Amino acid sequence: MENKVRELKDLMEKARHVVVLTGAGMDTESNIPDFRGKDGLWRNLDPRLLASVDTFEENYPLFREFYATRLKLLETRQPHRGHYILAELEEKGLIQAIATQNVSRLHHLAGSKHVYELHGNIRTFRCHYCNEPAEPEEFFDNRNCSHCGQPGLRPNVTLFGESLPTDAWNNTMTEVLQSDLLIVIGTSLEVSPVNQIPRFAKGKTVYINDEIAAKGYHFDLVIQGKAKKVLEQLEQLI
Ligand code: APR
Repeated sequence: MENKVRELKDLMEKARHVVVLTGAGMDTESNIPDFRGKDGLWRNLDPRLLASVDTFEENYPLFREFYATRLKLLETRQPHRGHYILAELEEKGLIQAIATQNVSRLHHLAGSKHVYELHGNIRTFRCHYCNEPAEPEEFFDNRNCSHCGQPGLRPNVTLFGESLPTDAWNNTMTEVLQSDLLIVIGTSLEVSPVNQIPRFAKGKTVYINDEIAAKGYHFDLVIQGKAKKVLEQLEQLI
């Protein structure tokens, strides 16, 4: 793997606009389970089922329990060294932006400044029906919306069946279209439209993943390994 990390370092040093795209595999070493990796599923239920508008509207208790469980878990989770290395690389001007599918905000907590949350975030809330913002404790206490009175509080994550936040998507596409290096870390690339982003990249592309899952993609460099370990090796070289 060392040679490939050296190749990554060379690509980064030659590039002038580098974008990083992360998925749940970037957070598993912070003890946040992914969705489709070997230890991913929650109660063996498909995330497409749980994180969907249909489940929200047809089985709110199950929807609420899934997110309340993930939120409780997040309360004790911190960024790992890999998140901090990405923030330091941004500080050094070696990466310009991170687009993430993760809702944990660990990139923000590690100090990254230009982070686009393509699937929203799990730490802020609103009413599904009247869109009024809500406080976390209202969601945790299973209260109805204090504005419209309906049982519809939810985190500001993008559910299956919903479109992605416009600003995050547009900003990401602007960055990717002007990038000469796209580094994809810890994602199965199974969920659209984010899984189309590598196809828009005009420059070199790199895939860092512990299972080489992504089918039908041509990456210039593929590094099979754990995100934290690869980023720590990269840090040693830069
Ligand atoms: N280092 C590198 N890769 C890892 C690591 C790690 N430490 N841990 C897991 N992986 C890999 C897994 O092998 C898997 O291929 O990361 C990938 C995670 O894939 P998914 O679980 O499908 O997560 P992601 O691609 O981010 O899912 C996209 O699906 O459920 C929705 O909204 C949810 O944002 C999520 C979206």
